[in-house]
Amino acid sequence: MKPDVLVAVTVFPEILDKLARHFEVTANQDDVPWTPAELTQQLQGMQGAFTTGTVRIDARLLAACPQLKICANMAVGYNNFDLDAMTAAGVLATNTPDVLTETTADFGFALLMATARRITESEHFLRAGQWGRWRYDLFAGAEVHGSTLGILGMGRIGQGIAKRGAHGFGMKVIYHNRSRLDPATEAACGARWVSKAELLKTCDHLVLVLPYSADSHHCIGAAELAQMKPTATLVNIARGGIVDDVALAAALRAGTIAAAGLDVFEGEPTVHPDLLACHNVVLTPHIASATLTTRRAMAHLAADNLIGFLVHGQPLTPLNPQVLAV
Ligand code: GLV
Repeated sequence: MKPDVLVAVTVFPEILDKLARHFEVTANQDDVPWTPAELTQQLQGMQGAFTTGTVRIDARLLAACPQLKICANMAVGYNNFDLDAMTAAGVLATNTPDVLTETTADFGFALLMATARRITESEHFLRAGQWGRWRYDLFAGAEVHGSTLGILGMGRIGQGIAKRGAHGFGMKVIYHNRSRLDPATEAACGARWVSKAELLKTCDHLVLVLPYSADSHHCIGAAELAQMKPTATLVNIARGGIVDDVALAAALRAGTIAAAGLDVFEGEPTVHPDLLACHNVVLTPHIASATLTTRRAMAHLAADNLIGFLVHGQPLTPLNPQVLAV
């Protein structure tokens, strides 16, 4: 008998075909936003779940779904999983690292450029018919090449952004991370480790690429923004909640920093009205990994984790491999 698998979000039809070769598949192709109770109901009898960042898997749900063996996230981030609870319940968690690194780094750089050079703000001005004539200071923004790029969180995506900055734009790259990179990796990235205080104080453009956790919650708030240069820009492609959005909107209004580019938000898809009211912020709907090639690679990796584990006992990218040893 084929195992039962729930695909909790809309995916490429080819992924459903691939999964159907191995599993009895229940799909949510209409992308119905299930409440936790509805998700629990849908998961009854399922051994596997194909999830993404919007699907919360916690202790309460796990207790009500004793047949569940694996949740395969189509995302590199996995703060939607209570990983400790999953491990305690013997449920394997997997994510999709590596396949999105370069695409996400491209987007981080695109958002940095759009923010520094005021691209969306100036486009709105043009579309609104407000472009009268040339002016020497019309949408004058911040220099990118040769400036100082700060990176908070220096995993694979942070390193990709560092390389683009150092080698493509001649930027001086500094970073802060709990653990320092080895000297060879630092050299390849053209990056130097500094304290968080020095990072905030020194950089012209700060990009956030750290995972969300209780430790990183609001790690950029009013106090941190106040340490940055008034000409600095801030880009968040990591997770909502790392930045205190209300404090950021206040800093953007007050000119504490010059501009921000945000792909992620606290409580997304709702965006705080204070941010929507700011002209000096570029806003995008959590699309940093969104090219068709990369999203397809992520979906295939999530599906291959389900097949690898439930059919062959061998997942490709486990987050809690200790579950396999039991
Ligand atoms: C997207 O946010 C991801 O974590 O892959």
